Amino acid sequence: MSSETPLSVVVLAAGQGTRMRSDRPKVLHALAGRPLLAHVLATARALSPQRLIVVHGHGGDRVREAVDAPDLVWVAQDRQLGTGHAVACALPAAAETGTVLVLYGDVPLIRAETLAPLIEAANEGAVGLLTARLQDPAGYGRILRDTEGRVLGIVEEKDATPEQRGIDEVNTGFLAAPAARLREWVTNLGCDNAQGEYYLTDVVAAAVAERVPVRTASADPDEVEGVNDRAQLARLERRFQRRQAEALMRAGVTLRDPDRFDLRGSLEHGRDVEIDVGVVLEGDVRLGDGVRIGPYSVLRNVTVAEGAEILSHCVIEDAEIGPGVSVGPFARLRPGTRLAARAKVGNFVEIKNSEIGEGSKVNHLSYIGDTSMGRDVNVGAGTITCNYDGARKHRTVIEDEAFIGSDTQLVAPVRVGRGATLGAGTTLTKDAPPGELTLSRVPQQTRKGWKRPVKKK
Ligand code: UD1
Ligand code: CA
Repeated sequence: MSSETPLSVVVLAAGQGTRMRSDRPKVLHALAGRPLLAHVLATARALSPQRLIVVHGHGGDRVREAVDAPDLVWVAQDRQLGTGHAVACALPAAAETGTVLVLYGDVPLIRAETLAPLIEAANEGAVGLLTARLQDPAGYGRILRDTEGRVLGIVEEKDATPEQRGIDEVNTGFLAAPAARLREWVTNLGCDNAQGEYYLTDVVAAAVAERVPVRTASADPDEVEGVNDRAQLARLERRFQRRQAEALMRAGVTLRDPDRFDLRGSLEHGRDVEIDVGVVLEGDVRLGDGVRIGPYSVLRNVTVAEGAEILSHCVIEDAEIGPGVSVGPFARLRPGTRLAARAKVGNFVEIKNSEIGEGSKVNHLSYIGDTSMGRDVNVGAGTITCNYDGARKHRTVIEDEAFIGSDTQLVAPVRVGRGATLGAGTTLTKDAPPGELTLSRVPQQTRKGWKRPVKKK
């Protein structure tokens, strides 16, 4: 039966997040490049809910715009009257029957596995409650149990007696309950407490009063920590990064130092990929077998084919890098760069919206933009494609086996024919014919006996 019980997930995300001291709603602050709320929604989706309801309030429209998707139901909670009130606002949007699970938009590290026992409890008619034992339980609701260890209720810190404050088992906030029961309980909540709020936690005592069993599961405190300020945000970022790093290492990726690696998106990888320290991967990154990424390189939406090597301090965005290619150190590959097999891009080279053919080399201090380059081309140091006339961009074509002398300017649109050679220092304004030497150099002269001017005293 339980696998067919409909699940409604309610995500509370209406709080202001005052301690972030930010104009941005708290749940939109980024963890690993995505909003906190997006992480929670991803976890919720992993549970295949029939309804996924987000309660929003502060910065509501911005929150919605940032993460909206067809499977989400948005419920506005205009005034934050407490967690119980927030759930009451959401329940009309939940499935009539089945189980309701409550998640929090600012608690991003929770995993689906951890929530499974709560759902199971609720599917069987009980209340499922996730608790944790904390060395310092200050600020949290405490779990009250009888002498047999049965849960009696939850008392909020502000309502607790000094004795109750000594309890180290706390409420994580995560809770699942049968929808029909939860509806009754939240409708009957009062707000006669220290904060004058409608506490979701009071449904636990209501369940106990009706002899509905309360089943607890225990969580790792690191997984249920919420974000209240930026120091916590940074701590959770490291924890999340560590979790990703461990998974990558288990999957066969070498990370020189897992504490100095950041993945802000997704990484697909082959075998024996090596990533050095300080590397940041963003968006969708794919690294083929044996790829090596040198220290302090940043890759965003990049595919690197097998055996390619990115040396240190490269910044690469929206690019495709072919097999056996070598890039860097200190190269910048901008959107639309495609490097074919065994191409080589060296230091202080910028490439944009260009294809570099097989085995071609751009090794030093060059700018290549809007260019189609064939195979086995050699581009000398300091070569620049002048692709922009102040109004429009123009293309440069460099055919196979061309040799571009150092300090050449290619004034686009222009074509360098197959096997052509351009003399160093050439400013190419017309097409260079295949197989010939083309140069635009001013003849060299020597003025015999010329004297340098001297300063008069
Ligand atoms: C709550 C629990 C407490 C638990 C703690 C764990 C209650 C009464 N207390 O306390 O037992 O130990 O979480 O962190 O539930 N929210 C809304 N609308 C509201 C109020 C809150 O959406 O009207 C959201 C907040 O944005 C936040 C979450 O619910 O994400 C928790 O609210 P908060 O006020 O921080 O609850 P705590 O006092 O921490
Ligand atoms: Ca809180």
